[in-house]
Amino acid sequence: QEELFKKLIAHCKEYGFIFPSSEIYDGLSAVYDYGQNGVELKNNIKRYWWDSMVKLNENIVGLDSAIFMHPEIWKASGHVGAFNDPLIDNKDSKKRYRADVLIEDHMAKIEDKIEKEVEKARKRFGETFDEAMFRQTNPRVVENLEKIEDIRKRMVQTLESGDLEGVRQLIVDLEIVCPVSGSRNWTEVRQFNLMFETKVGSVSEDANTIYLRPETAQGIFVNFLNVQKTGRMKLPFGIAQIGKAFRNEIVARQFIFRMREFEQMEMQFFLRPGEEMKWYEYWKEARLRWHKALGTNPAKYRYHNHDKLAHYANAACDIEFEFPFGFKEVEGIHSRTDFDLSNHTKFSGKKLQYFDPETNENYIPFVVETSIGVDRMFLLIMASAYTEEKVDDGERIVLRIPPALAPVKVAVFPLIKKDGLPELARTILNDIKLDFNCHYDEKDTIGKRYRRHDAIGTPYCITVDHQSLEDGMVTIRDRDTMVQERIPIDRIRAIVEEKVSY
Ligand code: GAP
Repeated sequence: QEELFKKLIAHCKEYGFIFPSSEIYDGLSAVYDYGQNGVELKNNIKRYWWDSMVKLNENIVGLDSAIFMHPEIWKASGHVGAFNDPLIDNKDSKKRYRADVLIEDHMAKIEDKIEKEVEKARKRFGETFDEAMFRQTNPRVVENLEKIEDIRKRMVQTLESGDLEGVRQLIVDLEIVCPVSGSRNWTEVRQFNLMFETKVGSVSEDANTIYLRPETAQGIFVNFLNVQKTGRMKLPFGIAQIGKAFRNEIVARQFIFRMREFEQMEMQFFLRPGEEMKWYEYWKEARLRWHKALGTNPAKYRYHNHDKLAHYANAACDIEFEFPFGFKEVEGIHSRTDFDLSNHTKFSGKKLQYFDPETNENYIPFVVETSIGVDRMFLLIMASAYTEEKVDDGERIVLRIPPALAPVKVAVFPLIKKDGLPELARTILNDIKLDFNCHYDEKDTIGKRYRRHDAIGTPYCITVDHQSLEDGMVTIRDRDTMVQERIPIDRIRAIVEEKVSY
C-alpha cells in the first residue's frame, strides 16, 4: 500500500494532476498546485457537489463569502480560544510533533503487531482459522487490544480536560512500551493556534490583525439573515459554499490529505430546535449516498461517530474512506446546535433570529452541517481510480475515474497525419468541444495515444481512419473494457453524454 501511494503521488505529477507548490524554489511544505488535468478533475468534483446540493434541493442556496472577515468573528466562533493543536518537541531529535498524532502513531504500531499475529495464525491454521475467536482468546492479541483501549481512553480524557502534563506522561509511557520516535526526552505540551494571521492596512498594530479563515462555515453564519431575508427562505433551509480555508497544520502529512491551504465544500442546514437529530441522521445518510453514487467501492467507506466533540457540536460523525494509508476522514457531519448563531448574536449585538410564521415565534435556528474537503475528495478519487493491469501487449496504468468527473471526456485521434484524416478529426472535435472537455492528439502510434489517455482516465477515445472518409463511421474505444466499436459520427455526442452525465 505504501508503495502504491508513492506511485500514485508520482503519477499525479507526471500526468499534470498535482505539482508541489513553488517547486523551482524547492517547494513549500503542505501546499500544492493543481495542473492541467488536476484543475479539471477538481472543478468536476466541485460541480458534482454543487449540483447535488444547490440544483437538486429547492431549499438550499449558494453563497460566496470573502476569505477576510472581521476578527471578532473568530472570537465568537471559538476559534481564537479553542482551535488549537497540542504540540510536543523531542529534545534529542529536535523534531516537533502533534501530540495526538504521535499517540495515534503509537496505536497504529500496536495495531500492526496485532495484524501480524493474526496473519501468522491464519497461515498456520489455514482454512480452519476463525479470526474472531482468535482475537478474543489469544493472550498477546487480547493484551494489545486492551492497551489500545486504555491509550484511547487516557488520550480522550487528558485532551478533553486540557491536562497537557497528562498527555506528555502518556507519550513518555508509550515510548517505553512501544517506541515510535526512538527517544524519551520530551518538552512540555503546548497549545498552538492553527489560524494564520495577517494585517490589514499599513499600520502594524494588533487592532489590524485579521485571520485567514480556517473554515468557510463562518461566512455562512454571518450571512444567515441576509440570505434568509432576501431569499425569503423558510426553515428548514440550507446555504452551501465552496472556498479556500487555511490552517497552520504542524504535521503536514500524506500528500494532499492535510494541507495548509485547502478547499472546503460546506453546507449549513438551518432548522427548528428539537429537529436536529432527525436532520443529523438525514444528512449522515444522504452524504454517504452521494459518495456511493459515484461508483467508488462501497466497502471502502465507513462512519466514525465522535466521542470527543469539537467545541461547537452536540453530535458529530465522520465519513471515513480507506486511503492507501488506512481509514481516514473525508467528510464531517456535525450537529452544531445554535452555538454559532447565538455567539454571533452575543458578539455582534445583532439578533440572528428567525420568525416562524407557523408558530408565530422568534427563535435562533439550530444547524446541521456537512463539510467535505475538495482536496481529500480528489485524493479519494485518485486512490480508488489508480489501477495497474496486464493487457495483451504488456501492462497499462489506467485511472478508472468516474466518467462524470474525468478531466477529459473524449480524445479524438486521426489514424495518421495526412490524407484528410486530421481535418475530419478536427471537425468532429470542434463539433463537441463545447459540450465536453476534449483532447486532440496526433502524435505517436494509436497504442501509445490510448495509454496516455488511460493514464489520465479519459473514458472514450475516437479514431478517424480512411474508411471514416467514406462511410462517416469512426472507432470508439472504451477506457475500462478496451472494447472498440464502429459508430456513426453523429452518434458520438449521445454516446458520450450518456456515459458522463449524472
Ligand atoms: N466547518 C467544520 C469543519 O471545518 P473539519 O472537520 O475541521 O470541520 C472539514 O473540516 C473537512 O475539511 C474535513 O473532513 C476534511 O475533508 C477537510 N480538511 C480539514 N482540514 C484539512 C487540511 N488541513 N487539509 C485538507 N483538508 C482538510
